[in-house]
Amino acid sequence: MTDNKRQILVTSALPYANGAIHLGHMLEYIQTDIWARFQRSQGHECYFAWADDAHGTPVMLWARAEGKTPEELIDMMNEQHKSDFRDFGISFDNYSSTHSDYNRELVEQIYLKLDQNGYIERRFIEQLYDSEEGMFLPDRFIRGTCPKCKTPDQYGDSCESCGSTYSPTDLIDPRSAVTGSEPVMKESEHFFVRLADFEEPLKQWMNSGALQPEILNKLQEWFIDGLRDWDISRDEPYFGFRIPGTEDKYFYVWVDAPVGYIASFRELCDRKGLDFDAWWRQDSAAEVYHFIGKDIVYFHTLFWPAMLMGAEMRTPTAVYAHGFLTVDGAKMSKSRGTFIRARTYLDHLHPDYLRYYFAARLGPGTGDIDLSLEDFVQRVNSDVVGKVVNIASRCAGFIGKRFAGRLSDSLPDPDQFRHFVAARAEIAADYENRNYQSAIRRIMKLADEANRYIDEEKPWVQIKEAGKEQQVQAICTQGINLFSVLMAYLAPVLPFTADRAGIFLGRDVSVWSNMDQPLTGVEVNTFQPLLTRIDPLKIAAMIEASKESLQPAATEPDNVEETPIEVLADEITIDDFLKVDLRVARILQAESIPEADKLLKLTLDIGNETRTVFAGIKSAYDPSELEGRMTVMVANLKPRKMRFGTSEGMVLAAGPGGGDLYVLEPDSGARPGMRVT
Ligand code: 2FM
Ligand code: ZN
Repeated sequence: MTDNKRQILVTSALPYANGAIHLGHMLEYIQTDIWARFQRSQGHECYFAWADDAHGTPVMLWARAEGKTPEELIDMMNEQHKSDFRDFGISFDNYSSTHSDYNRELVEQIYLKLDQNGYIERRFIEQLYDSEEGMFLPDRFIRGTCPKCKTPDQYGDSCESCGSTYSPTDLIDPRSAVTGSEPVMKESEHFFVRLADFEEPLKQWMNSGALQPEILNKLQEWFIDGLRDWDISRDEPYFGFRIPGTEDKYFYVWVDAPVGYIASFRELCDRKGLDFDAWWRQDSAAEVYHFIGKDIVYFHTLFWPAMLMGAEMRTPTAVYAHGFLTVDGAKMSKSRGTFIRARTYLDHLHPDYLRYYFAARLGPGTGDIDLSLEDFVQRVNSDVVGKVVNIASRCAGFIGKRFAGRLSDSLPDPDQFRHFVAARAEIAADYENRNYQSAIRRIMKLADEANRYIDEEKPWVQIKEAGKEQQVQAICTQGINLFSVLMAYLAPVLPFTADRAGIFLGRDVSVWSNMDQPLTGVEVNTFQPLLTRIDPLKIAAMIEASKESLQPAATEPDNVEETPIEVLADEITIDDFLKVDLRVARILQAESIPEADKLLKLTLDIGNETRTVFAGIKSAYDPSELEGRMTVMVANLKPRKMRFGTSEGMVLAAGPGGGDLYVLEPDSGARPGMRVT
């Protein structure tokens, strides 16, 4: 094996520093981690290095809102992210931040090289500017009415209602999401990478086997449209690295994010004394793989390799994209409680469960992966616990109690053992090709065979028969050896369970090179239950807790540069509907809050009590028009702490928002406190 020892660096996409890790992220990190662990199990030198993606406008605004420095916030999030990863068994060798000196140095180096080589062009462009805040506005920070379907309050780049994409200047009545003011056009100098210069080398690279077929097709379409120049600069204020030779220009976050892969690896090299250049010089034989989501393919297959080519550095060996995660067949949804944070999951369930389920669903393609919660419970319980772990529990009891932990001196069925070991090449090829679902299918087929063997030999019957002791010891030794091979195959997927199995067997099962040596004539350790079944009540509790995390955390802003995740309207039963306590209310008082753009403070009479509600209807009503009017409120909504006080319910209104809102009113005769049914 040492002759073929490969040098491999793997990365996952860098998560934004201003958001919590959720199960959508975990799909990718688990996919990457299984691959890294598999490579190490084959004796290769494989490192997994990545980082937080710390720069950009959202972090800057978040820090302002919190009255903290961006550094304080990103350091705090870095710790949270790392602890989520560790607890999920992600075996990263280094986890850094793009806001590091290592990264700054590399970004500057790459930029200067691109500039020297003539790939950078400077020219003036006009963009929308918030003169109240003194900043240019990224597309996602501009809201307005969709030019196509006229839906109000849409982002500057695309409409969530009709799906059309446009430029922010096309929006009707555009507003800055930062101050609410009307943006103006302003000119400034920007720096561009001339991507078209890389057309030929990019085509060569993408045909070198670096991409999945579906990604290759997509890329070919982009080439037909022609490669446009890439704007790599942003004006201040911006949280990022300043462009050398300028006073007020910063690198766009997508420039320094992928460089963060290299910077994190360099940090690791310095810590471990590895030869950084051997991995990153142009003719390096080391392999570099990026695992990413299919939404960021453009950045990784055009911008990123072009940057590396222009800087005379090596390009990635391959970029592997995966699909999105759905839960129970739909987009993750906060209202349904299926937008599950990594920490919320860990508070309720064992990490190996999810790792197993993702592995059982992941193939080499870019199709979406569904976490069906019912199927999740059923598969983990029947495969991992019912089949694999069960082999050990069925055999370990006899070996422990009757034979003082000692295995027999030889296997009763060496052919069967060899047949288990012979699957190694096929299973390894599946892992290598990221066809984890196929590997799992093969492993479970073997687990069925092992269980059939025990069922047929019936050690629990034979133990009662005189003179059959040795026979029982041999059957259980066979079973434990089959289990040991299965655990080796599953070790990249189930690291925690494999560690526990290793303690029982007295052998590190994560190394495949010795799996063909059966364990015979030695003692195993006392068997401790390796993994228990999933209790469906835990799933229900996790979903409930995820619904609660709907309340925005004080320290976490909306991550507007992330792919937006829609809150979908759910189908509900009549019982669900009856949980909502709707009451007729009289508006006793309506007050404007000068510091709030959207809110009016309402004092409501609901018969036996008065309630304070902050309602987002300021742009539609003058407070005096509302006083004395009747309306309908949700009376059993959990009170919510807001900047101006606690809101104790919600008033019902119709319309899309902004000035186009209509407070609902009951028919005359309705009295405060009446239940609405
Ligand atoms: O899409 C994202 O979540 C980005 N933060 C990924 C960056 S990956 C890379 F290029 F660093
Ligand atoms: Zn639209």
